[in-house]
Amino acid sequence: MAKTLRALPVSELAGKRALVRVDFNVPLEAGAVADATRIDASLPTLEYLLDAGARPVLLSHLGRPKGEVRPELTLAPVAPCLEERIGHPVHFFGRCEGDEAVARTRELGEAEILLLENTRFLPGETTNDPALAAGFARLGDLYVLDAFGTAHRAHASTAGVAGLLRPSVSGLLVDTELRALGRLGDAPDRPFVVGFGGAKISDKIDLLNVFLDRADVLLVGGAMANTFFAAQGLPTGRSLVESDAVGLAAEILDRAGGRIHLPTDVVVTRDVGDPVSEVWTVPVDAIPEGAAAVDIGPESRQAYAAVVGTARSFFWNGPMGLFEDRRFAAGTFTLAEAAADATAGGAFTVIGGGDSAAAVRAAGLMDRVSHVSTGGGASLKFLSGGELPGVAALEQT
Ligand code: 3PG
Repeated sequence: MAKTLRALPVSELAGKRALVRVDFNVPLEAGAVADATRIDASLPTLEYLLDAGARPVLLSHLGRPKGEVRPELTLAPVAPCLEERIGHPVHFFGRCEGDEAVARTRELGEAEILLLENTRFLPGETTNDPALAAGFARLGDLYVLDAFGTAHRAHASTAGVAGLLRPSVSGLLVDTELRALGRLGDAPDRPFVVGFGGAKISDKIDLLNVFLDRADVLLVGGAMANTFFAAQGLPTGRSLVESDAVGLAAEILDRAGGRIHLPTDVVVTRDVGDPVSEVWTVPVDAIPEGAAAVDIGPESRQAYAAVVGTARSFFWNGPMGLFEDRRFAAGTFTLAEAAADATAGGAFTVIGGGDSAAAVRAAGLMDRVSHVSTGGGASLKFLSGGELPGVAALEQT
């Protein structure tokens, strides 16, 4: 198990430069942070460090600039947002390695934070270049990994630098994530219900396989359900179907037997992009040739909510429809509400990052489920039994 920040004596923190890898890969709109969820998730670790007298120096990536400086992907707009939320000065420096950056880390005053520029502006970040990792190691006296969302990447600012600095520990967010997701591991409270949505079976096949063995019931929705309909020989009209995965869907249906639930009705429309295109509900065996399924129907919503209501553990990844368009959001929001109700009834509920987290946020239910993961890919990899290289590279206890 990785050593954690909480295990360090204050003497190892006071006055020290704590190099913290955060995941500030946040959406920007018109040069400002559009959703600060990931910034808020870093606050417990940063406050803990400030309280202990440490000087946090923050590294993060933003987007995928592929080793080039892309001005629209600068982390500069994150500094004022973090400053407002944490209530301490946050300085920004437009590079993330080199003598000048190191000098800035040494100039940091008490209760001040330094945010450095996007690590992915440098080509050595994603290749985990040892020279760049050594350059990052000059920025701190200790290393804290709090970027759960990036812990599945073996990059210079995650796995690389973690091996070079001591102490090298997990932050509070990483600890919370590992504990919450770990509860869905070998012995989840039962019944254990899993909701799967989103577009592609192939993207989530490892996780589907894991949960086919582990869950009592799997509820499938979103475009993924269309591929299962195709596997059953049902007409899918113009719905999004992953044609390469129809065979896979058939195998999964065979293996799962009655544990996999598919929608019995769906909401359809002829033109998804047209705001006045007619929207109506059909049974799943009657999707018209010219229409596409865009949400699960009312009968399916009710049935799925009832199943979630029986759960003692619930994990959900992927929306039930095109929820960004309110006309097609009812299935996704119904599942989010069912998760909140189940939580109130004592169930342990985890939302698996990405779109489903955005849906729970849009439904205003973030605080009414047990845990919303900040990591899409990282949570899927962890739950599928894969190692997170960022965590593995930390000091072990
Ligand atoms: C995420 O948003 O999932 C993380 O920040 C990781 O980003 P990446 O997929 O570009 O590595």
